[in-house]
Parts: sequence; structure tokens; C-alpha cells
Amino acid sequence: MGNLTFTMIKPDAVRANNHAKILQHLVDAGFRIVALRMWCMSRNDAKRFYAVHTGKPFFDGLIDFMTSGPIVAAVLEKEDAVAELRKTVGATNPEAADEGTVRKLYGSSVQQNAIHASDSDENARIEWSLHFSEADIML
Ligand code: RTP
Ligand code: MG
Repeated sequence: MGNLTFTMIKPDAVRANNHAKILQHLVDAGFRIVALRMWCMSRNDAKRFYAVHTGKPFFDGLIDFMTSGPIVAAVLEKEDAVAELRKTVGATNPEAADEGTVRKLYGSSVQQNAIHASDSDENARIEWSLHFSEADIML
């Protein structure tokens, strides 16, 4: 298990001005921020990022949502980072997420769930490559 993962604070949480609080939540949970970028994805960027969901009923709405405002992308470091971050973030649906998780605290619907967390070491690397160049990540 690797020590790096990728996260993205979604447009709903940035719009609500919760991105700094969410970053602090991650730091308090033991993650170190090793790269950070706030920016706006194009529709093509978002389609590439969520390519695995192409054709699903929620795909078009997801692309609209993810391009509706800035996001905050970050590479995070912690032992067993992928599993630890998924635990810290909580279930996809905020209503089903455990108390104290980022999605329980800051998410408002299954789509507008405040944050993304990579689901494998391999996907983390693919995903952060869409947001950062190799030179941005100095370990
Ligand atoms: P993520 O990739 O964003 O960390 O979320 P996840 O693994 O918990 O969930 P995933 O199945 O990968 O879904 C990606 C994102 O698509 C939106 N979604 N909407 N039924 C729906 O309307 C629906 N299902 C998923 C959410 O924003 C979800 O996080
Ligand atoms: Mg996912």
C-alpha cells in the first residue's frame, strides 16, 4: 500500500467557502499536503477525470456540476493513504456517511458530496497527473 493519494474538493464545498476547513480536517486526520492547486476544470478535463463513469445516468449532471466552479486539487501523504482518505471522506451519499466524516459534515447530496478521494494507488497517480505536472510534486 502506497503513502500517497489524491483528493479534490468539489465546487459545492468551494462555493460554500468550506475548502480551507476541509483541508484543515485532512491535516488534523494526519495527512500532509504535498501539492495543492485551486482551478477550474474544462468539460473535457472533467470528462477525462470521470471517464470511468461515461454513459452512466448521472454522468452528464456530474460533468455540469464539476465544471460549475473552482475545485481544490491536492496530493496527500499518509501511511496507507488511499484507504485512510476513503475512511476520512465517508460514503458517497452524505446521508449514509459516518458521523465526523468530510461528506457527513460538508456534503449535501449524493452528487454534491463536497470531496473526491481516489480508490486505488493506480487511480490516484492517473488522477493527480490530470491536475499536476511531475515537477509540482517534490517529496
Ligand atoms: P468520488 O469518485 O468522487 O470520490 O466518489 P465515490 O468514489 O464515492 O463515488 P463514485 O461512484 O466514483 O461516483 C463519482 C461521483 O459521481 C457523483 N455521483 N452521482 N446517483 C448519482 O446521482 C451519483 N452517483 C455518483 C458523486 O459526486 C460521486 O462522488
Ligand atoms: Mg470514485
